[in-house]
Amino acid sequence: MKILIAYYSRTGVTKKLADFIAKKIGAEMEEIKDTVNRAGVLGYMLAGRDGMKRRLTKLESPKLNPADFDLVIIGTPIWSWNMSAPIRTYLEEYKNQFKQAAFFCTMGGSGHETAFKEMGEIIGKKPVAILSLKTKEAVAGDFNRADEFCAEIIKI
Ligand SMILES: Cc1cc2nc3c(=O)[nH]c(=O)nc-3n(C[C@H](O)[C@H](O)[C@H](O)COP(=O)(O)O)c2cc1C
Repeated sequence: MKILIAYYSRTGVTKKLADFIAKKIGAEMEEIKDTVNRAGVLGYMLAGRDGMKRRLTKLESPKLNPADFDLVIIGTPIWSWNMSAPIRTYLEEYKNQFKQAAFFCTMGGSGHETAFKEMGEIIGKKPVAILSLKTKEAVAGDFNRADEFCAEIIKI
């Protein structure tokens, strides 16, 4: 099975989890890149606003076509109890290209339910697996639940 991990990460936490999953299951990776500068305090505030208002952004062109993969695992940080604006944009732009999808996120503590629900609604598909990890777990390398997520994926 051909698997792609498409993720966005503003400060590297979701990237750390994406790297772990990719290594474990042997997937290709696409880092979704935003053209908006989200660094620093201003970048944080813009991200919070865009998450809250469910705004779209302008992405750099992805290198890979999700339609070429049997499963796309999509990873996002939680912004204001929502998916991040770059992942919302990616899903909107490619919503008809996903054969199967799984979702993961990193977050301080809450917002994953809304994010996963909306991610599924945008692409019109129920995810085959989901994983929400707290930032502190990812930073500490506490990947026990990520291992379980990978085991679910491998069974598909
Ligand atoms: C603008 C902004 C809003 C956030 N809102 C939430 C939130 O609503 N709930 C939560 O649990 N974490 C929230 N966080 C924390 C991030 O989801 C968390 O730090 C995540 O691991 C960052 O991942 P990254 O390093 O891949 O960008 C927010 C972070 C930012 C920058």
